[in-house]
Amino acid sequence: MRWLVTGAGGMLGRDLRTALAEAGETEVLAASRADLDVTDPAAVRDAVRGADVVLNAAAWTDVDGAETTEQAATAVNGHAVQTLAGAAGKRLIHFSTDYVFDGSATAPYPEDGVVAPVNAYGRGKALGERAVLAAGGYVVRTAWLYGEHGPNFVRTMLRLAASRDTVEVVDDQQGPPTWSYALARQVVALAGAGAAPGVYHGTAAGSTTWCGLARAVFAEAGLDPGRVRATTSDRFPRPARRPAYSVLGHDRWSGTGVAPLPDWRAMLTEAMPALLR
Ligand SMILES: NC(=O)c1ccc[n+]([C@@H]2O[C@H](COP(=O)([O-])OP(=O)(O)OC[C@H]3O[C@@H](n4cnc5c(N)ncnc54)[C@H](OP(=O)(O)O)[C@@H]3O)[C@@H](O)[C@H]2O)c1
Repeated sequence: MRWLVTGAGGMLGRDLRTALAEAGETEVLAASRADLDVTDPAAVRDAVRGADVVLNAAAWTDVDGAETTEQAATAVNGHAVQTLAGAAGKRLIHFSTDYVFDGSATAPYPEDGVVAPVNAYGRGKALGERAVLAAGGYVVRTAWLYGEHGPNFVRTMLRLAASRDTVEVVDDQQGPPTWSYALARQVVALAGAGAAPGVYHGTAAGSTTWCGLARAVFAEAGLDPGRVRATTSDRFPRPARRPAYSVLGHDRWSGTGVAPLPDWRAMLTEAMPALLR
C-alpha cells in the first residue's frame, strides 16, 4: 500500500513512521510540515493523489494558544481537514481528541457521544471531525498522549523529578494516559483491517488523574511517588478550559479484528524504557 503521513515530524507522526516500517510498509511518504503544509489546498490535493491511505497527524496542538488565535488553529484543525477529507474521502484516517467532549460525563464517552467542545482547540477539531465523517473517512480520537518524541507530560515529570524535591500536580481531571507508539501500531492495523469507517477511540483502557500519572511515572523511574503532591486546577489557571472527564469508550473495536489498547498502567510500564532512553 502507498501511505501518506502528514505531520510526520510530530510526536505521533514519528511513531507512525516507526510502526509502518515495523509493519514492513516501504511505500511511505512521510511529510513533515516543511514538506507539506496542510493549509495549502493545492499541495494537499497533489500529495493525496497517489496515496491508498492518508494518516493525518498534522495539527495545531497548542491548546492555550488556540484561545487567542482561534482562526489560525482552526485553519489547521478544521479547514485543512475539510480539504484533506474532500481529497481523500474514505482513504483518510484523521486523529481527533477527547476535547470535542465537554467533560461533564461520569462514564466513558461512547463513539457516538454528543460533541460539545468547551475550548477553541476542541471547536476546531470538531469541525475537522465533521468533514471527515461526511466524506466517509475514519476519525480516531485519542487523549493524554505521551511518547518518546516531542514534549509531553511524562517527559516533563521525568525532567522535574531531576530538579525538584516535590512537584505539585492537579488531581481533579480524569483521563486515559496513552502511549503514542501503541496508538500508532493500532492505527496501522486499523488501516489494514477493512473495518467500517467512522469514529474509533484510540486511548488506553482505564483512567487516572494527572497526579496519578505523575506518581506512576516516579514509581516507574524508581523514585518516591510521595514527592508528587496533589493539587486542584484552580491553583493553575490556564487560558483554555479543560474537560474534567476525558475517558473514552472502546466498543467499536469489537468485530474489527483490531485489539483495543491495554490498560494505561501496564502501557506505561511497557513505554518507560523508551521514555528513559
Ligand atoms: N498530544 C496529545 O495529548 C493529544 C491529545 C489528543 C489528541 N491529539 C491529537 O493527536 C494528533 C497528533 O498530535 P501530537 O501529539 O503528535 O502533536 P504534535 O507533536 O504537536 O504534532 C503535530 C504536528 O503537526 C505539525 N503541523 C502543525 N501545523 C501544520 C501544518 N499547517 N501543516 C503540516 N503540519 C503541521 C506540527 O509541526 P510544527 O511542530 O512544526 O508546528 C507537528 O509536527 C493531533 O491530531 C492531535 O490533535 C493529541
